[in-house]
Amino acid sequence: MNKLKYILLTLTFVFPGLTMAQDEAPAKSFLELYQVEIVLGLAVVVCLVAVIAMYTLLVAMKTMLRMKLAEDGVEEETELIKAREGEEGLDFWGRFWNRFHEAVPVAKEESVVTDHEYDGIRELDNRLPSWWLYGFYFTILFGVAYLINYHVIGTGMSQEEEYLTEMQEADEKVKLYLASLDNLVDENSVVLLTESVDIAAGKAIYDANCAVCHANDGGGGVGPNFTDKYWIHGGDMKSIFSTIKYGVPEKGMISWESQLPPKKMQQVASYIYNMEGQPSANPKEAQGELFERVEETVAPADSVANAGS
Ligand code: HEC
Repeated sequence: MNKLKYILLTLTFVFPGLTMAQDEAPAKSFLELYQVEIVLGLAVVVCLVAVIAMYTLLVAMKTMLRMKLAEDGVEEETELIKAREGEEGLDFWGRFWNRFHEAVPVAKEESVVTDHEYDGIRELDNRLPSWWLYGFYFTILFGVAYLINYHVIGTGMSQEEEYLTEMQEADEKVKLYLASLDNLVDENSVVLLTESVDIAAGKAIYDANCAVCHANDGGGGVGPNFTDKYWIHGGDMKSIFSTIKYGVPEKGMISWESQLPPKKMQQVASYIYNMEGQPSANPKEAQGELFERVEETVAPADSVANAGS
């Protein structure tokens, strides 16, 4: 069963597409979606089975050869066997470690010495340590899997694609962050918006919610006139925003806090701010005090929007 597990693992490693959510095209069946992957997967399975079979054959042949040699009384003397000599006394880990390097013990070095000699320094022909060798095999397998994944079936993202996705994600995060900043606006931090998009948005909010009581051109009706210089609750941005946010419920002006997010209240407040001094068809008589405006702090121009213009 273990082998099956490895094969499945290898498959998911080579074809991450198999384990990915398929919400993009729910209409397509699994077979249609992964035709190429399935064919390639089957090919890999067949190859693996062939490799396992060949390996089993090899082991069988070796065993048979060894038995034959033993029958003939020939002592098998390979370097490996020599290296493993004296294993009897070792525990599991000792044996494991011994095999892991497969180095010939110093006492037996003569058996692997080569004829290269320089100034008395001689070269040994030790086997490659298994840990190194398996690492090397792993890199080959990895290379094949990598090649298939990125260049043959293309399930993996190229560096450029990865970069683009990351940039897109970052963009979205920035947008979310900016939106959250917008919605942090309150009566203490609010500033006048001057961008035409914001004024247009403010007009839309005004026409839909406020014009019934304040008239389309701000001339006033149930509510006071916005086109004169007289204000009941103050005519600067902070005061206008605050009146919109908290309302004057006892006088018929509701609180808009629960219906308009801060950014929208800022937009409609900016729209109203600009009504002062505008002509009005049917201006209501002045209410409140004459309010002398000082210059408002203006929201910094949107650098992103301006970059292109
Ligand atoms: C149901 C009618 C009604 C609606 C709808 C209404 N208002 Fe008012 N509004 C009033 C009344 C009445 C007052 C005067 C309150 C007072 O006398 O203190 C007022 C006052 C105001 C003031 C203060 C004016 C001043 O002189 O200080 C602002 C600013 C204002 N409204 C903005 C808005 C905005 C923005 C909307 C829409 C989002 C809106 N109003 C919708 C009735 C309304």
